[in-house]
Amino acid sequence: NYYAVLMAGGVGSRFWPLSTQNYPKQFHDLLGAGQTLIQKTFSRLNKFIPKENILILTNERYKELVLEQLNGIAEEQVVLEPERRNTAPAILYASLKILKKNPNALMLVAPSDHWIEDEKAFEKNIKRCFRECEEREVLMTLGVKPSFPNTGYGYIEFKKKSGVDIKKVRQFREKPDYETAKIFLTKGNFLWNAGIFVWSVGSIVKAFEKFQPELYQLFAKGMKVYNTQDEAVFIDGNYTNTPDISIDYAILEHAKNIHVLPAGFDWNDLGTWGSLYNELGKDGNQNAILNAKTLLTNSNRNIIKTGPGKIVVMEGLNDYIVVDKDEILLIYPKEKEQDIKNVLVSVKQKL
Ligand code: GDD
Ligand code: MG
Repeated sequence: NYYAVLMAGGVGSRFWPLSTQNYPKQFHDLLGAGQTLIQKTFSRLNKFIPKENILILTNERYKELVLEQLNGIAEEQVVLEPERRNTAPAILYASLKILKKNPNALMLVAPSDHWIEDEKAFEKNIKRCFRECEEREVLMTLGVKPSFPNTGYGYIEFKKKSGVDIKKVRQFREKPDYETAKIFLTKGNFLWNAGIFVWSVGSIVKAFEKFQPELYQLFAKGMKVYNTQDEAVFIDGNYTNTPDISIDYAILEHAKNIHVLPAGFDWNDLGTWGSLYNELGKDGNQNAILNAKTLLTNSNRNIIKTGPGKIVVMEGLNDYIVVDKDEILLIYPKEKEQDIKNVLVSVKQKL
């Protein structure tokens, strides 16, 4: 009864110029590990979820990339969105497809582009969540102990006196402002949302029916064509009418039956160059170097990524991101890494 849905439709715009609209970060070997992020994620899930029960949710334009990188996966396992509408519509669509196949299915929703090294601990946590969802109608989230007031994450407040390992959630707050995040951090019972969810298809579909009734109605209309040859036509005709909304805003901020299991493994969402830097090996001056041959003097804590064998010479540069990719060379301070998203827009407009 175990299923998984891999979220692979994001663009990873803060990883420009490596990650691009046509070739987003989940399809790159960001860590220099010999496997792309989606390949690593797939194999992590496949340790305890049958291959044929893993669906990849992505945009139409990445279909070939997925089939190429996940060798041996069947075409019908790649669920395609004709337009980008964020995670909520995609998750509901996949849930209904699974529901039709197996009304008792339990599903894991997992991002395809995160860093998790301890696969054993990950498996243990997910199985624990599956068991909980077998017994009770709950929506399970995985929480990570926060280390700074990151405004790019969702925050989960749990009830302190509620259960041994799994805690009941008091509130879920997606991407609070900086001041609010700072207050959350002082409380001790707030966790970051890791973006990894476990629930029964029945309970998530019910939650959509309750909190996103229009969205629910739209996709429920297609029930008879899901998993048949007529599905694509229905989706092409209807997807454009869905709102652009993430699962966090659509469901998690509203549902009352959310629980959280604090993650028993180290986690990094590889959202920015700086977070990638943290997971890479470094030289004696704390520079992380991918592919390049370097001659660095008085240069510390930089992240340098080039094509194979490129020679990089640097003097007196600290805490910078240096990325050389095809016709683009980016040199940007790490502390402003969040702005790279917007740089891309200016480049498109001006150059
Ligand atoms: N299929 C599909 N379609 N996948 C998508 C889409 C889409 O339109 N948009 C995003 N994704 C995928 C991304 O590739 C990623 O794996 C995952 O869904 C989450 O999307 P992000 O765009 O990275 O979300 P976020 O980083 O802003 O916030 C989410 O993740 C944080 C942790 O990394 C939220 O869930 C936060 O609450 C959470 O803290
Ligand atoms: Mg993210």
